[in-house]
Amino acid sequence: MDASTAYRERRERIETYFDRTAVDAWARMTSEAPLGRIRASVRAGRDLMRAALLHMLPGDLRNRRVLDAGCGTGALAIEAARRGADVVAVDLSEQLIALARTRAPADVGPGRLQFTVGDMLVADAGRFDHVVAMDSLIHYPLVEVVRMLGVLASLTNDSILFTFAPRTPALAAMHAIGRLFPRGNRAPAIEPIDENQLRRSIASARELRGWDCARSARIAHGFYTSQCMELLRA
Ligand SMILES: C[S@@+](CC[C@H](N)C(=O)[O-])C[C@H]1O[C@@H](n2cnc3c(N)ncnc32)[C@H](O)[C@@H]1O
Repeated sequence: MDASTAYRERRERIETYFDRTAVDAWARMTSEAPLGRIRASVRAGRDLMRAALLHMLPGDLRNRRVLDAGCGTGALAIEAARRGADVVAVDLSEQLIALARTRAPADVGPGRLQFTVGDMLVADAGRFDHVVAMDSLIHYPLVEVVRMLGVLASLTNDSILFTFAPRTPALAAMHAIGRLFPRGNRAPAIEPIDENQLRRSIASARELRGWDCARSARIAHGFYTSQCMELLRA
């Protein structure tokens, strides 16, 4: 199977999951509705991650263009627009985008907010100052993540913020156990990534020449573990 067919197939599985299988669960996860203990810990971890990513963006986003790549129900995009950004928020899932549109306040203050259904790699919406991909690259393997970052870098002036699932012994064990269960309607697998290998791959990728890894933060909260990384144009 060639790389683009593998990418398309993976993307279709991700879309089916977020647009059909898990759309209600995801709507609930991203709302304020009560959740069980495990999911509540994931929601709290995700809130911390969103805050960490927003903290890595300039406080004043007026006159800045931001791409929320894989925006889901749009919480980060809404916050960036409130801080003045002109935000394009794109997601594969038509249903999540519809929900994001209903959740967006009519008045986002100084910014602008546009939700679009589609692939983040073909946003076709011009250039951006910052790109943020919160937990939207976690289902792609390392080579694919680096290729996707390369495409996003070609659209970006200043910084790319993304998260990955760090390969820790605990996550590797959970991952191994997960693979013992039949696939069925299970979520597309999360691809744990070794941080050092990620850094090396970014440093050696031709498409990412001129970009450096900068700040990074790992959020481990209950059942949520994810790590964000900032890429800056050198
Ligand atoms: C775990 S959710 C996170 C959503 C949102 N960023 C958040 O943190 O609430 C991952 C999202 O990434 C989207 N996604 C994955 N691959 C994508 C792609 N190639 N283009 C656009 N969206 C993508 C999925 O449809 C899904 O909504």
